[in-house]
Order: sequence, then C-alpha cells, then structure tokens
Amino acid sequence: MNISRRGPDRRGTLLLAAAFFFAGAVFSAGGAPAGPEPPPAAQPAPPASGDLQVPAPPFSEGIYPCSQCHNKDLPVNRTRRKLEAAHDDIALQHGPPENRWCLDCHHADRRDFLHLANGEQIDFRHSYQLCGQCHGDKFRDWRAGVHGKRTGQWNGKKEYLLCVHCHNPHSPRFKPIEPLPPPQPPQRTNDWKGLIP
Ligand code: HEC
Ligand code: HEC
Ligand code: HEC
Ligand code: HEC
Repeated sequence: MNISRRGPDRRGTLLLAAAFFFAGAVFSAGGAPAGPEPPPAAQPAPPASGDLQVPAPPFSEGIYPCSQCHNKDLPVNRTRRKLEAAHDDIALQHGPPENRWCLDCHHADRRDFLHLANGEQIDFRHSYQLCGQCHGDKFRDWRAGVHGKRTGQWNGKKEYLLCVHCHNPHSPRFKPIEPLPPPQPPQRTNDWKGLIP
C-alpha cells in the first residue's frame, strides 16, 4: 500500500521543489532577496517493519540468552559442519541446503541477536524482519493481518504473533498430519425391546 502511494508523493515533492527553485531564480535575478528555503524533502514513509507489539519469542526453556554458552570461552566456529556438541536436534531444512547456514540468520559475534542480509543486527522480537527479507509477500500479508494472527483493536493497538510462533525457522514447512480414522457411529441395538413390558 505504502509503495504505491510513495511514487506520486515523491513526484509531487519534486515538482514543488522545482517550482521554488525557479521562483528563487526569478527573485534573485530581479535583485529581490532570494526566495524562501525549499521545503524539506518529504519524510520517507516509516518502514513497514516498524516496532510492532509481539509476544515474547517462543524459545525453549533455558536456551536464552545464548551468551550463557556463546561467550569468550566458546569462540565462533564459522565452518559449515554437523553440530555435535550442542543443537544436534536442529536439522536445517529451509531452502537450498548447499547454501544455507546458521550464521546466515544468527549473528556470529553477538549470538543473542539475529542479523539481516545487510549485516544489521536485530533482536529476536524483530525476527519477522528477517523472514520478510525473503518472504516479502507473506510479510506484507502478515502486516495487513491477512496471514498469521493479529489481535487487538481495528483502530488501535494490535498484537502480532511472530512468524516463528507458527513456523519453525529451521524447518518451516508444516509436516503433513496423519489422518485419523473416522469416529465409530453408535451401533443399533435391540436392547430397548426388553425394557418395554
Ligand atoms: C532462516 C534463519 C535461520 C537459520 C538458517 C538458523 N536459524 Fe536458528 N533461529 C532462527 C530464528 C528466527 C530463531 C528464533 C526462534 C524464536 O524466536 O523462538 C532461531 C532459534 C534458534 C535457537 C533457539 C531454539 C529454541 O529451542 O528455542 C537455536 C539454538 C538456534 N536457532 C540455532 C541454530 C543453528 C545451530 C542453526 C544452524 C544449524 C540455525 N539456528 C539456523 C533463525 C535461523
Ligand atoms: C548450553 C550451551 C549453549 C547454549 C545455551 C546455546 N548454544 Fe549454540 N552452541 C553451543 C556449542 C557447544 C556449540 C558448538 C557445537 C559444535 O561445534 O558441535 C554451539 C554452536 C552454535 C552455532 C554454530 C556456529 C558456531 O559458532 O559454532 C550456532 C549458530 C548456535 N550455536 C546458535 C545458538 C543460539 C542462537 C543460541 C540461543 C538461542 C544458542 N546457540 C545457545 C552451545 C550452546
Ligand atoms: C535467505 C532467505 C530466507 C530467509 C531469511 C527465510 N526464508 Fe523461509 N524459505 C526460503 C526458501 C528459499 C524457501 C524454500 C522455498 C521452496 O522450497 O519453495 C523457504 C521456505 C519457507 C517456508 C515453507 C514454504 C513451503 O513451501 O511450505 C516457510 C513457511 C518459511 N520459509 C518461513 C520462513 C520464516 C518464518 C522465516 C524467518 C524465521 C524465513 N522463512 C526466513 C528463504 C528464506
Ligand atoms: C498464526 C500462525 C502463523 C503465523 C504467525 C505465520 N504463518 Fe505462515 N503459514 C501459516 C499457515 C497455517 C500456513 C499454511 C500452511 C500450508 O498450507 O501448508 C502458512 C504458510 C506460509 C508459507 C508457505 C506459503 C505457501 O505458499 O506455500 C510461508 C512462506 C509463510 N507462511 C511465511 C510466513 C511468514 C514470513 C510469517 C511472518 C511474517 C508467517 N508465515 C506467519 C501460519 C502462520
């Protein structure tokens, strides 16, 4: 929504700036004091990923802060490898396996944080920004309250469930659910016959 609005806005600002520029030129040519300062450029729309109300990230008990183990005694190991000393329960199944690794998302040196593709550090309450970098369509739907779960007031405060409340970030595809057999219908019996004298 913001994107489609931004185009015409900016063009409008440019036209306005050009008008002031020409007005200024005319005034100074006539010896009059230079025209007023051009208006400040329009503020860019706030990023769609601004600060949102979210519940606490769904960490397993005792795992956070990560820095209780990832401190100076456990130097970062950037080698892609099978983890054995910890996290051996994490099987990455998220996009092409040959070029996905833990440190694509987790901050190498500050393990209590994630990072975006440009290296910017984000905390775990903002993990949706990370997801949104590759799943822009789902992210926009989520922001609009169409995907995921948003609660609160239509014209007031809203709370969003994080993507990771529903999707495992390491293996996000939902597993198929084994169908259960249908319920047994009650059997017809003739027991009632003996009850009537
Ligand atoms: C696509 C990005 C991504 C990749 C790749 C990734 N993680 Fe994560 N990981 C996350 C996010 C986001 C969370 C936060 C989940 C939450 O908020 O509870 C997380 C959570 C964790 C946790 C806490 C889990 C828990 O039980 O609470 C550990 C440990 C972890 N990651 C380790 C790893 C390791 C080790 C790898 C590589 C084998 C890895 N991650 C790869 C995004 C990623
Ligand atoms: C109980 C200690 C402990 C906690 C808590 C812990 N880790 Fe680790 N982590 C380890 C150990 C040990 C390794 C090295 C495993 C190996 O080399 O087999 C490791 C390795 C990793 C790696 C692989 C890259 C590297 O530097 O070796 C990632 C990514 C990672 N941990 C992320 C996390 C995140 C994110 C959290 C918090 C949500 C977390 N860890 C919490 C002990 C821990
Ligand atoms: C670096 C890019 C990248 C990031 C960051 C990323 N993903 Fe993905 N994701 C992918 C790719 C690639 C696939 C595989 C698409 C496919 O198989 O069609 C995928 C698949 C998925 C799927 C499964 C779609 C299906 O086919 O069923 C879900 C759900 C998902 N990601 C959620 C997330 C969430 C939640 C996060 C944030 C924690 C996240 N992704 C972060 C690239 C990314
Ligand atoms: C309230 C739970 C919930 C939240 C929160 C949520 N999702 Fe989903 N997501 C789902 C469900 C349910 C599906 C449908 C799964 C299916 O059809 O297999 C889905 C599907 C997806 C898919 C696969 C769509 C496809 O076309 O196959 C992606 C990618 C995805 N979600 C990304 C995200 C991202 C990114 C976020 C956060 C910005 C997010 N989701 C937040 C529940 C959620």
